[in-house]
Amino acid sequence: MKKIQGQVVLVTGATDGIGRLTARRLAEMGAKVLVHGRDQRKCIAIKEEIESETANSRIDTYAADLAELGQVRALAGRILAEHPRLDILINNAGIGPGPSGQARAISPDGFELRFAVNYLAPFLLTQLLLPALRASTSARIVNVSSAAQRTIDFDDVMLTKKYSPMRAYAQSKLALAMFTFDLAERLRGEPITVNCLHPGSLLDTKMVREAFGTPQGGAQSGAEAEVFLATAPRLDDVSGRYFFETREARAETQAYDQNARQTLWALSAEWVGLT
Ligand SMILES: NC(=O)c1ccc[n+]([C@@H]2O[C@H](COP(=O)([O-])OP(=O)(O)OC[C@H]3O[C@@H](n4cnc5c(N)ncnc54)[C@H](OP(=O)(O)O)[C@@H]3O)[C@@H](O)[C@H]2O)c1
Repeated sequence: MKKIQGQVVLVTGATDGIGRLTARRLAEMGAKVLVHGRDQRKCIAIKEEIESETANSRIDTYAADLAELGQVRALAGRILAEHPRLDILINNAGIGPGPSGQARAISPDGFELRFAVNYLAPFLLTQLLLPALRASTSARIVNVSSAAQRTIDFDDVMLTKKYSPMRAYAQSKLALAMFTFDLAERLRGEPITVNCLHPGSLLDTKMVREAFGTPQGGAQSGAEAEVFLATAPRLDDVSGRYFFETREARAETQAYDQNARQTLWALSAEWVGLT
């Protein structure tokens, strides 16, 4: 394992499901864990749970609703102020397709909600946190995508015409993979790697129970896959890849289309207000 003792790790969406188990495991391994969630009371409850179960008391909490870009900026600002060095960033938070028949929803900033939470938030958060990641001698970014990936139609990214909750979820997860590949290229030559993964299929979490009913596996295996990407020594120099659990795999074709990636990056930078 990558030396984790004393490393600073941020896990977004650590208040439930796979993120909660990932945060717990990294705490067990000796990391200082920054637990993020949208509900401060849940963050505190997870901090207390992790501290009592792992005897690691170096747990901090950060509440921010990733649906809102202003809260993403505030979150990054607090983390940069309190932790000038960040060794591992796990962009795990996400919303699933929800119960069947879900109507299209928009974020407070006017973006399609799944795109905003699952993609625009990590796109912005990661870039705002780069100064802290650059302060690490070797940093890793892990983006939690999904095997559910759907080609983005650049004429209707906000899905105003052909909306379905599954399509919204799947295009947001492909966007996250595209961001991963682009960021890896931009960070080439720097000691920061960035990879993405599908943590497992229909694992037993709130998101899966809500959207699909009966799960097919435990959330623990998803956490193990996230911890693997965050810590496995054999990934020290691996960047810009997509993993199906712990095996390198191919993402949806559009992720390898450089023009599509450039278009997505330019639009995203404009939408989140990054120049
Ligand atoms: N489970 C699977 O089989 C599976 C498969 C493929 C990919 N994934 C991905 O794995 C990641 C974790 O999902 P999960 O299955 O563990 O789901 P989950 O149990 O529903 O957990 C999602 C986490 O994200 C947080 N979150 C949701 N919306 C948020 C928002 N607007 N702002 C801030 N935090 C927010 C949740 O907070 P609350 O606690 O407040 O709800 C929770 O901590 C997701 O990115 C998901 O797409 C999961």
